[in-house]
Amino acid sequence: MKGILLAGGSGSRLYPLTRCTSKQLLPVYDKPLIYYPLSVLMIADIRDILVICAPESLDAVHALLGDGSHLGLNITYARQDEPRGIAEAYVIGADHVRGEDSALVLGDNVFHGSGFYDLLASARESFPGCALFGYQVSDPGRYAIGELDAGGSLTSIEEKPLNPRSDNAITGLYFYDQDVVDIAAQIRPSKRGELEITDINREYVSQGRARLVRLGRGFMWLDAGTHSSLLEASKYVEILANRQGVRVACVEEVALRMGFISPEDCYELGARMAGSEYGTYVMEIAEDLTRSPQRA
Ligand code: G1P
Repeated sequence: MKGILLAGGSGSRLYPLTRCTSKQLLPVYDKPLIYYPLSVLMIADIRDILVICAPESLDAVHALLGDGSHLGLNITYARQDEPRGIAEAYVIGADHVRGEDSALVLGDNVFHGSGFYDLLASARESFPGCALFGYQVSDPGRYAIGELDAGGSLTSIEEKPLNPRSDNAITGLYFYDQDVVDIAAQIRPSKRGELEITDINREYVSQGRARLVRLGRGFMWLDAGTHSSLLEASKYVEILANRQGVRVACVEEVALRMGFISPEDCYELGARMAGSEYGTYVMEIAEDLTRSPQRA
């Protein structure tokens, strides 16, 4: 399965924070926002990843992630010249995914919850055409909202509805089969001038080939695209770090636990950041797993 991480967009909802830096490089507590969606693809066991950036942020994102080889990944880059919508990821990334299943994750989405690895593994194993991940929210007007029938199957999806028919948000993580490239090539810009990911998803729903995977109670999903949700995400990550000593979306740890890198490689990555608590954590995790590998 191939991966696409969409880190485009102008970040205008976060001005002035994003006047001269990309949204995906802003901090969420102890690490850049982009680590969070990157770790989601890694947890889904995806190593071949196309990162799509706005032209002005490409160099900085490249300086941060490089070719991904230090994490056992193969990261390549493409530009989204204008914020023309999420679905454009499959126009820009057509050659990257052609002929294969793929996952798309949005660069400002933060997911965390126990059992996430198993949930992604089983979603990946079989999906009818696309798998969408649903999450109950208190503010459904901000997202794509899915409506389900009595059997729990998706019957419709509406983008940012004025009168939401449910509180089931469609999060920014999508699994598709190879048909997504042709579907994306056919959709046209919406009233707001964007190629909507919801139009791709609607096509799968109309073909009866969309599955909704529910992220249940206790799971955390945030779209860190506003000042308030960016701060909420930081607070959430800080609480887990202080209370349990767990660092959400530590990409070095994820690479180690997934078996993409060795404990020695991981230790070395931590040592390069030894001046920070984060670096110390990476070194400790590498040492812990060397001592008791069953904890992986
Ligand atoms: C986008 C999508 C929306 C989805 C959301 C998840 O919204 O258009 O369907 O529910 O991401 O983060 P945006 O963040 O562009 O408002």
